[in-house]
Amino acid sequence: MLTGKSIILGITGGIAAYKGAALCSKLVQAGAKVHVIMTESATKFITPLTLQTLSRNPVYTDTFDERDPSVVSHIHLADHADLIVIAPATANAIAKLAGGHADDMLSTTLLAATCPVLIAPAMNVHMYEHPAVVSNLELLASRGAMFVEPGTGQLACGYVAKGRLAEPEEIADAVEAWFARSRSLAGKRVLVTAGGTMERLDPVRYLTNDSSGKMGFAIAEAAKLMGAEVTLVAGRTIAPPPAGVHVVRVESAEQMLEAVTAEYDDMDIVIKAAAVADYRAVNISGQKLKKNGERLVLELERTTDILETLGRRKTHQFLVGFAAETEQVARYAMDKLRRKHCDLVVANDVSMEGAGFNGDTNIVQVFGEEGLVEALPIMSKREVASRLLELIGDRLARPEGSKHDR
Ligand code: CTP
Repeated sequence: MLTGKSIILGITGGIAAYKGAALCSKLVQAGAKVHVIMTESATKFITPLTLQTLSRNPVYTDTFDERDPSVVSHIHLADHADLIVIAPATANAIAKLAGGHADDMLSTTLLAATCPVLIAPAMNVHMYEHPAVVSNLELLASRGAMFVEPGTGQLACGYVAKGRLAEPEEIADAVEAWFARSRSLAGKRVLVTAGGTMERLDPVRYLTNDSSGKMGFAIAEAAKLMGAEVTLVAGRTIAPPPAGVHVVRVESAEQMLEAVTAEYDDMDIVIKAAAVADYRAVNISGQKLKKNGERLVLELERTTDILETLGRRKTHQFLVGFAAETEQVARYAMDKLRRKHCDLVVANDVSMEGAGFNGDTNIVQVFGEEGLVEALPIMSKREVASRLLELIGDRLARPEGSKHDR
C-alpha cells in the first residue's frame, strides 16, 4: 500500500513515544520509506538507535547535525516527504506547530514542509481539554492538519480518561487511508468556482454578496489533495486561495461565465460553489455617480445563469451545483438539479446557524437524480469538501449503465 511513499515520522517527548517504534515498523513493513525525527525529550523515553534499526535510516534529533554537506537536512527531508506523521504529539509539539516555532529539527522541518500533516495527540486528559490545546488543535485543523484522535483508557498519569495515543495499527490505517484518498481523483481535471461576483455600478461601487469563498476554496484544496488537477475560478473572496491550484481571478458574473466556459470542454468535474449575481446594472457609469435628489433607482438586468449554460452544454462532465435556500430546501434543490442538468446539487439552508456564507462550518444535504443522497451534520467546510468529493469519486467509478441521467 505504501510502496515508494516517503513519510517523516516525528516522535515527541511523551511516554507514548514507545508506540512510535511499533508505528515505524508497521509503516516500513507496508513499504514506506520512513525518516524519523525525534525531539530531545523523545530521546529520554526511547533511543534513536531503536528507530534507526526499525526505519533502516538515520534518525534526526538535531537541526545542526548536518551529515550530508550537499543538502540542508530539514529542507531536504521536508521537500521529499509525501506525508508527515507526528505520533505521539505532545501539547508542546502541538503548540509549537500552531505558533510556527522553529527551534528544533522537527519544528523546523514542519515549517519547511508543504505536504499534509497527520497528528496523533497523546497527553493527560486535562491537558487535552485545556482551552489552549483545544484552540491550537482547532487552528491546525483550520490549516488542513489531519488528526488521529487519542483513545480513552488508562493514562500513564493514573487517570482513566481520553488522552491515550491511538494504537499504532489505527494510525497506520489512517496513513494508508490518506494515501488511498490522495489518489482517488488522480488524472481528473476539476474546475471549481468560489466566492461572490461583483457587479460594478461605477468605478468605486459594486453589488456583491456575503460569500467568503471558503466552501469553494475547501473543495479546490480537497480535490488537489485527492490527486486532481484543479482550476479555481474565484470572484471576491476574503482569504487567499489554496496553494497548488491554477487560479483565475474574475469580478463579474460575465467574466466568470467566460473563464468557466473557456475551460469547460477539458474538465471532468465542475463544481459551482460561487455565489453568482443574478442581476447586474444595465448601465455602468464610467465616472463616480454623484448624489442627486432623494432617491436613486438602479435599473438591473439578468445575468447569464452559468450553471444552466454548463448544464445545457454538458457532454461528459460531472456537474455539481450549489443551492443556498432559506425554506423548502429539498424541493428547490431538486428543481435546480433538473432545471440545470446537474449530477448533484449541494443544498444548504442558509438560515440555519452553522450553515452557509462566511463561517468555517456548513450543514449540507446532497441531492442527486434519485433524491436525497446524503444529509451531512454540521462539520467544517473542509470535511464537507472531502465528503462531497468522495461522493463524486464513487459516482464516477460506477459502471456506465448504473449512472443516473447525466
Ligand atoms: N448560478 C450560476 N449563475 C448565476 C446564478 C447562479 O451559475 N447567474 C449557480 C450558482 O453558482 C449555484 C447555483 O447556480 O451553483 C444556484 O444558485 P442560487 O442562487 O441558489 O440559484 P438560482 O438559480 O439563482 O435560483 P433562485 O434565485 O431561484 O434561488
